[in-house]
Amino acid sequence: MTYPTFPKDCTSMLCKHLSPELFETLKDKETANGFTLEQVINSGLKNSDSEIGVYAGDEDSYEVFAPLFDKVIEAYHGFSQSDKHHSNLNADELKINGLDEGYILSTRIRVGRNVKDMPLGSAVSKEQRNEIEERVSSALNALEGELEGEYYALLGMSKNVQERLIKEHFLFKDGDRFLEYAGLNRDWPHGRGIYHNHDKTFLVWLNEEDQLRIISMQKGGDVLEVFSRLVLAMQKIEEKVPFAYSDRLGYISSCPTNLGTAMRASVHIKLPNLGENMEQFKTITEKYFLQIRGVNGEHTKSEEGIFDISNLRRLGITEVEAVQDMIDGVASLIEAEKALAEVVK
Ligand code: ARG
Repeated sequence: MTYPTFPKDCTSMLCKHLSPELFETLKDKETANGFTLEQVINSGLKNSDSEIGVYAGDEDSYEVFAPLFDKVIEAYHGFSQSDKHHSNLNADELKINGLDEGYILSTRIRVGRNVKDMPLGSAVSKEQRNEIEERVSSALNALEGELEGEYYALLGMSKNVQERLIKEHFLFKDGDRFLEYAGLNRDWPHGRGIYHNHDKTFLVWLNEEDQLRIISMQKGGDVLEVFSRLVLAMQKIEEKVPFAYSDRLGYISSCPTNLGTAMRASVHIKLPNLGENMEQFKTITEKYFLQIRGVNGEHTKSEEGIFDISNLRRLGITEVEAVQDMIDGVASLIEAEKALAEVVK
């Protein structure tokens, strides 16, 4: 492989940070599972509109290709090579402060997890993926109380179930081009599936971008309840299926944006006036390290002034701090929205 040519208007972290010199040092390296630089950068090369553009194939990728990953990690999370990740799941430390919950349509917090001693999704074999599905779905099927529910494998899923899950916005997208070129859609739909509890407030995606995406969500703005349910679920699953965790980088994920807590805490919220004042909107989201997305997930646009607002940083801060970023930032957005609505009146 020779040094790739990036389009002139490319702004991804890959094209920013992969210099010809760095490329030369890394181009013949390989992880213990045989994951190569070519595989690390393929998604970003094929999708030149990527924001990041790199994926890991295993925990070892973050070591072997550290000169590239560390640059991306530092730029995205503000986490330097000498930093160490710490966890804190104590919900009692969350401060709701002045958050006006009535303004919030729904709240969702997810974490990404991958199975210890397995390659990540972009390097896993079909047999390993099936084994992961088997191990995780049995752990899920043993959950009790509020978390009790059912696992639906994508393979052989009936039209009825599929339509219901799509309608409820539970089913993940297939054919995502970023995942496709990262090798994360191989053998689709084998090994993929969705678990949800009876109340539909707790969901697990299997073998999508990460081997597990553990999701807690509900209508309204009770962030504490959503967080507490997620923590319980994470702990219950990990009792049966240990997760890949590194002392320095925390929970290991396919995409470097998800390392550490691997946590994205988000709300859907109607902010029509701020939506018309994007500059003010972005000043607030930048101050609180928040990301703005459309309501139909990543890479989608906002509809009817409804936005998905979430924490941006996931590594080098604790779970409690990640959720606190979201709470404080959203409280500030609501105040600004109220003030703008007064002016419009
Ligand atoms: N690889 C995609 C990009 O660079 C997604 C990056 C972050 N999102 C994610 N789902 N991992 O734009």
